Amino acid sequence: MAVDVLLGLQWGDEGKGKIVDVLSAGYDLIARFQGGPNAGHTLEFDGKKFVLNTIPSGIFFENTMNLIGNGVVIDPITLKKELEKLKAAGHDLLTKKNLLIAKKAHLILPTHQLLDAANEKKMGDGKIGSTLKGIGPTYMDKTGRNGLRIGDITLPDFKERYQKLVDKHVSMLQALYGEVADFSEREAAFFEALDLLRQFPLVDSEHLVNNYIKQGKKVLAEGAQGAMLDIDFGSYPFVTSSNTTAAGACTGLGIAPQQIGEVIGIFKAYCTRVGGGPFPTELENETGEELRQTGHEFGATTGRPRRTGWIDLPALKYAIMLNGVTQLVMTKADVLSGFDKIYACTHYNYLGEKIDYMPYDICSVSPEPILKEIDGWNEDITGITELSEIPAKLQSYIDYLEAELGVPVKYLSVGPDRKQTLVMH
Ligand code: GDP
Ligand code: IMO
Ligand code: MG
Repeated sequence: MAVDVLLGLQWGDEGKGKIVDVLSAGYDLIARFQGGPNAGHTLEFDGKKFVLNTIPSGIFFENTMNLIGNGVVIDPITLKKELEKLKAAGHDLLTKKNLLIAKKAHLILPTHQLLDAANEKKMGDGKIGSTLKGIGPTYMDKTGRNGLRIGDITLPDFKERYQKLVDKHVSMLQALYGEVADFSEREAAFFEALDLLRQFPLVDSEHLVNNYIKQGKKVLAEGAQGAMLDIDFGSYPFVTSSNTTAAGACTGLGIAPQQIGEVIGIFKAYCTRVGGGPFPTELENETGEELRQTGHEFGATTGRPRRTGWIDLPALKYAIMLNGVTQLVMTKADVLSGFDKIYACTHYNYLGEKIDYMPYDICSVSPEPILKEIDGWNEDITGITELSEIPAKLQSYIDYLEAELGVPVKYLSVGPDRKQTLVMH
């Protein structure tokens, strides 16, 4: 099978960027399949740190091509900034010729961001906690059959198409919210950014990906967000607007399900969530604060403090089922070093009943986590390179998780750097 899929199993920020970078050398093509600049994927190597929002995490390897797939929504302004930062750091993707953009990927307009902000403002306390990048309104225009696509930017009447959609957004903003903020500066930046994007190969990516497959080349589909933010299966409505689960790789790249080989699911040794919505194992206390500080749990995209809590096994099992996960990656095990006791949520107490699945009405009836106490380990593990150096108590935590989840932990991440990764099996 030619295509492996790598995706988050929790509420995002599991360390996808780091692990894609680690695995990239073994693939010919890395393809992002959904989401947009709501994502922030962090990579660290040689003392340098990069945060990618739209660009796939395989760009640092000489022989790996990268594709922004049709399922992604692109904000040209953010993408231009990403490209400029990379260029300043010595990675000019135009000259490296290692980035392709799908013609069918949808465009985020400045007015999509105004709509996102206005929707959130209107919701008050019940807001989603969106990243305000315009993700929801852009996917709404996509499914509403109004959207503009990357391929459109080369058409002679692009400006008219753009204006037609903007006029619609402006009348919506006026009618629904009674105000339209000035977006002239962003509009100018948007068109300037398009000039840069036109210099990249804009491709019929479904053909390209399938040609890679036909030639026996290896493709890794890179997910954004996490299973619990999936538009269908996440904690709706506190979700993002795309399918973050494995099926999203098929629609987001144009590949058939039988082409999918390994499904690599990433989870943190604990849990975080940024934005609103249910989080059964959340620790709103000193322990939660300790996890946040030790784990540097602040959003890579927005800088917001991430909510923190213990690992949630019913949620993880659900994510593994939905995605057909064949290999697990556990990240941030090092953050738990020094905790005398750690905890895993095995079940929920839901209206007085002990259950081991996520209930439909998780947003209105908060299930109480039922926790199992586990011995912590004291050793600093950030420097370990051999399996024999894994503390016995960490190994028993991993053994316990493998037994509960029924899938092997193939990689263990013990720090943010590319090198701080152990192959377990
Ligand atoms: P992504 O969105 O899934 O790519 O994850 P983010 O980049 O948003 O957040 C993960 C954060 O944890 C980043 O700051 C990474 O550099 C960092 N990170 C990744 N793996 C590890 C790890 O094993 N240990 C520690 N301490 N940090 C990690
Ligand atoms: P990566 O790829 C964590 C969250 C937002 C909000 C909800 C909806 O870095 O893991 P949106 O802007 O999509 O309308 O926001 O989803 N969210 C993320 N949380 N990591 C992400 O991406 C996220 N992308 C969106 O905080 O709760
Ligand atoms: Mg992130």
